[in-house]
Amino acid sequence: TSIPHSEMMAGHEMASRLYHHILTLSEEGKIGLDYAKGRGFTKQQIEHFKIGFVPNRWDTLVTIFKKRNFNLPEMQKAGLLGQRDSDQQYYDRFRDRLMFPIWNHQGKVIAFSGRSIGDEKPKYLNSSDTPIFHKGQVLYAFHLARPAIRKSNAAVLFEGAVDVIAAWGAGVNQGIATLGTALTEEQAKSIRRNAEVVTICYDSDKAGVEAAVRAASILENAGCMVKVAVMPEGNDPDDFIKKFGAERFKNDVIGASLTLMAFKMRFLRKGKNLNHESERMLYIEEVLTEIATLSKAIERDHYLRQLSEEFQLSLEALKQEQYRIFREKK
Ligand code: UTP
Ligand code: MN
Ligand code: MN
Ligand code: MN
Ligand code: MN
Repeated sequence: TSIPHSEMMAGHEMASRLYHHILTLSEEGKIGLDYAKGRGFTKQQIEHFKIGFVPNRWDTLVTIFKKRNFNLPEMQKAGLLGQRDSDQQYYDRFRDRLMFPIWNHQGKVIAFSGRSIGDEKPKYLNSSDTPIFHKGQVLYAFHLARPAIRKSNAAVLFEGAVDVIAAWGAGVNQGIATLGTALTEEQAKSIRRNAEVVTICYDSDKAGVEAAVRAASILENAGCMVKVAVMPEGNDPDDFIKKFGAERFKNDVIGASLTLMAFKMRFLRKGKNLNHESERMLYIEEVLTEIATLSKAIERDHYLRQLSEEFQLSLEALKQEQYRIFREKK
């Protein structure tokens, strides 16, 4: 099945090389390079992730595709070109953006994510699904991170390409990402085939926390041991590294990541005053409900004991209460 689509892949390979060349070696790419440097990307990061730039014109790719006799309708199907209704002329879909190649797990470029360098909306323009790109099957930078993931038996899952790149610069090289979509079962299985432990390191905002809980359950169903990294509210990994540096990211974020249950407890605790009896009781009930969902008896025992110690309640009472909640929910 790779043969019919080889031209689409060749088009992406060509585009990727051209964009990278423009960013790193051309006058036209200077504003892109200024933007990249302004964000703190180093030469090594630009090289390792083959970051590129596409200038603000309609024919960067069209021109080279014509010169090299590429099939333009194929390049449109591949998501690289559009076609104007008025005169049937082809034009570049990506313009005036910092370009991140997206590779399949074998390392072939199959799509792009483009970050606008100004206020242009959308902030990120991603390739739509095409015959060679199925969003839900691909993890950003998987082929680059795979050796480190296998070696450490652990992957680190981010929300976006920029977070993967920043983490790599900080020495965390097992980073991969979904690209603006929820983690799928298929992606979780790909991860599990290469590592058992997965640290979720999503943005520290409401959307990120909710997405982390959903991703965690998909990863657990795929057989992964899930941990969740926590950062100060409002930060994403790229922000954190810029503000606090690589060492603190490795030690205080990745190294200090929580078990999923501890993360949920921290989340349930937020906004509650545990000195108030009613809020404390609500918290305990919510935690008991979460503990009941754990599949391993030793884990349930561990968290029940923790709860018992923190609130000076007997294990017996907690178990009875858990049984009551469980019966009521049925
Ligand atoms: P965020 O909304 O957290 O991006 O989306 P960000 O961190 O603010 O972006 P920067 O730092 O200003 O560049 C997280 C990820 O979701 C995807 C991108 O992959 C992004 O990295 N995304 C976001 C999209 O695909 N499309 C969008 O319009 C926005
Ligand atoms: Mn280069
Ligand atoms: Mn976000
Ligand atoms: Mn973010
Ligand atoms: Mn960001």
